[in-house]
Amino acid sequence: MAMTGMVVTTHVELPEQAIMRFAEQVRTGAIDEPTGQMRLGFDLGTANIVVAVVDAANHPIAGGWVHSTVVRDGVVVDWAGATSAVRALRADVEQRLGHEFTKASISIPPGISDGDIQVFANVIGAAGLDLDEVVDEPVAAARAMGITDGAVIDVGAGTTGVSILEDGKVVLSVDEATGGHHMTLVLAGSNNIDYDQAEAMKKDPQYREQVLGTIRPTLDKMATIAAQALGSRDVPAVYLVGGSSSFESAPAIFEARLHRLVVRPAQSLFITPLGIPMPAQEESR
Ligand SMILES: Nc1ncnc2c1ncn2[C@@H]1O[C@H](COP(=O)(O)OP(=O)(O)OP(=O)(O)O)[C@@H](O)[C@H]1O
Ligand SMILES: [Mg+2]
Repeated sequence: MAMTGMVVTTHVELPEQAIMRFAEQVRTGAIDEPTGQMRLGFDLGTANIVVAVVDAANHPIAGGWVHSTVVRDGVVVDWAGATSAVRALRADVEQRLGHEFTKASISIPPGISDGDIQVFANVIGAAGLDLDEVVDEPVAAARAMGITDGAVIDVGAGTTGVSILEDGKVVLSVDEATGGHHMTLVLAGSNNIDYDQAEAMKKDPQYREQVLGTIRPTLDKMATIAAQALGSRDVPAVYLVGGSSSFESAPAIFEARLHRLVVRPAQSLFITPLGIPMPAQEESR
């Protein structure tokens, strides 16, 4: 592929094994033996609420998820639904691990208001847990990938989030309302099927080519949002995470717009949740 402008080739070794294991834990309910103290974290997304447990060495120990509609446009719109889902996920991992947690971390979309942050934090309190840390979603993703610098593009269900991280902190963040939800709407419309059927079709490998033909413009729009957000900024690497980056061709579509290499880890749906209970790097050293 022809690339123009600033191209930085970075050899990145992501902790793929841990990420793959966490995805398996979420999907199967499997648990691992922890070393040292365990930490708990929750990701309240537009499509899914995910719980993650890591141990003192940041190894994934347990995970779980429920489909959810409690968050829209980065705001908790269903308080009762959010708190009951977090309570149920907490009870489930505690039962499987035979361990009671007293505190948990939660992620927030970067750039939301203090009032909205407080609502996310309160969900943890309502589940009977003390608040450990409120983590920006791209910061959580970076921790799971073991990186501290670069651009993190998170293509979720509701939005495309573009963040630049320096030293493990967000220095720029843009969030636009284009996500997997919009892909599903386009698929439903073009195939004359209902939303749930379109959502299933989107994830069914059997329809991959056909689906990609229909949703490619949406992926391309996400890539354009990212290109506008990054502009000509010099970033050491670009990472693509979130469930809507699951398509094989997603990195190539982003590379074409960004003129930069794009690293998409395996199981990109689970990167952000896995990083939520992980402490900042200097603390864990
Ligand atoms: N295999 C797949 N192929 C295509 N899309 C997928 C696949 N798996 C999940 N998705 C899509 O990914 C989205 C969910 O991703 P994710 O969990 O990252 O979003 P979220 O965190 O809930 O949303 P947001 O970050 O926008 O609040 C959904 O739109 C879902 O349809
Ligand atoms: Mg998300």
